[in-house]
Amino acid sequence: MLNLENKKIVITGASSGIGRACAISLSMLKAKLILFGRNIERLEETKSELHGNEHLFYSQDVRDINNFSISINEAVTKLGPIDGFIYSAGIQHSSPLRKYNKEIFTEQFDVNTVSAFETARILTQKKNFNSDGGSIVFISSIKGVVGDSNILGYSASKGALISGARSLAIELSKKNIRVNTISPGMVEDTTMTVDAIKQFSNEWALKSKEEYPLGWISTSDVAYACLFLLSDLSKKITGTNLIVDGGFSAK
Ligand SMILES: NC(=O)c1ccc[n+]([C@@H]2O[C@H](COP(=O)([O-])OP(=O)(O)OC[C@H]3O[C@@H](n4cnc5c(N)ncnc54)[C@H](OP(=O)(O)O)[C@@H]3O)[C@@H](O)[C@H]2O)c1
Repeated sequence: MLNLENKKIVITGASSGIGRACAISLSMLKAKLILFGRNIERLEETKSELHGNEHLFYSQDVRDINNFSISINEAVTKLGPIDGFIYSAGIQHSSPLRKYNKEIFTEQFDVNTVSAFETARILTQKKNFNSDGGSIVFISSIKGVVGDSNILGYSASKGALISGARSLAIELSKKNIRVNTISPGMVEDTTMTVDAIKQFSNEWALKSKEEYPLGWISTSDVAYACLFLLSDLSKKITGTNLIVDGGFSAK
């Protein structure tokens, strides 16, 4: 039932981290991928790790919704209607409230939340999406569920993603399109985490790891959860937030 062969899956944030791991896993299962990222070199690195050669690549900013729409039209013409979507593009700014400003809020909400729903709007247009339905997975964060200091805008944007996805799940159920979020805890092998360690120190990282009963997680752990939510194994699961955090939030 984990059959994703020939399924057409769109992934944003495919140039790095979780999005790249999802692309690699899906290509091993013979899905056909439409991959988005901004950094061309990093998209090329993803390309070099994929199985199969029918995948399409687009280097663009997720906030450029007109270009996204044009690219999706082209991809649908080449490969056929879309069956699944993983929205993994995301940014995190860390700073205390006293240093916060509207630009920092707006940028995180634009990339992490507004563009997630805007891209979903384009993809689920009748001409673009499989008329039998499919599955959408938004990558949120455990920090959209539980709070932490210095990440006010990030956690607010990720919490909004979870609650918006729940409403979308109800709305899109008429088209048999399932909508779920995944909330990872700290993911070891990503640019975002490397940047956080640079900002906060190795001691901070060691202390953080102690808070995870099963340890920090890997990009593959998140990718496997995505495969489940994209496949028919989860055909009655919609409107949920699947937490993949090594037990961090169980306490
Ligand atoms: N790392 C963690 O510990 C962690 C934990 C929980 C949740 N998450 C979430 O997981 C998702 C993936 O992050 P990651 O951990 O894989 O980090 P990452 O390695 O930094 O990847 C982030 C991805 O987002 C893309 N991106 C950022 N801004 C973009 C924009 N304006 N337009 C287009 N693409 C953009 C990047 O593309 P370019 O590099 O090409 O610009 C990159 O592919 C994010 O939503 C993040 O919030 C991460």
